[in-house]
Amino acid sequence: MSKEKSIVLIGFMGVGKSTIGRELAKKYKRKFIDIDLEIEKIYGMKTTEIFNKYGENAFREKEKELSGYYARQPGFIVSLGGEAFMNEEIRSICVSCSLIIYLDLSWEYWKYRISILVDSRPILQKKSMKEIKALFHLRKKIYHKHHIKINMDDLNIEDAVTAVIEALERFNAKNRVDK
Ligand code: S3P
Repeated sequence: MSKEKSIVLIGFMGVGKSTIGRELAKKYKRKFIDIDLEIEKIYGMKTTEIFNKYGENAFREKEKELSGYYARQPGFIVSLGGEAFMNEEIRSICVSCSLIIYLDLSWEYWKYRISILVDSRPILQKKSMKEIKALFHLRKKIYHKHHIKINMDDLNIEDAVTAVIEALERFNAKNRVDK
């Protein structure tokens, strides 16, 4: 297990980045940073309220600042917002400074989560199913730039955490990170 680079979790909204990130942080005794929660702490309100009150751009600026900062720092487990990785600058910092784990889920599985996500994810609000699907597939192409990918389709959280840990260990052994 690399003691240096931060591990950055990427993937579409609601795939389990935060839940898995917390478990990885426990396992590797690292601090967990959820970028969305950090932004919410700064504004003292939920993401949907930030979008409504200050606009998406204000949220994106903070997101860029914090994502770039934490991806550069060593030793964290970071859950990135689903859109953050679309930003070229954030993406290139992540690629060069951190270890990127992409939590992938097929549309067929993900689409059933929309109803539980929509209130807390302003990006899903006022969009048709067709538009959400297009966004989902557009982002999938960009998430392709990762170091490790885990397909989450048939995994519960516990199995997903195990899959991530095993993949990380294989990755580190192959790349001789600690040697
Ligand atoms: C967003 C994803 C959310 C959050 C915000 C916008 C997006 O994070 O940053 O609601 O545009 O994909 P999660 O991916 O953690 O849900």
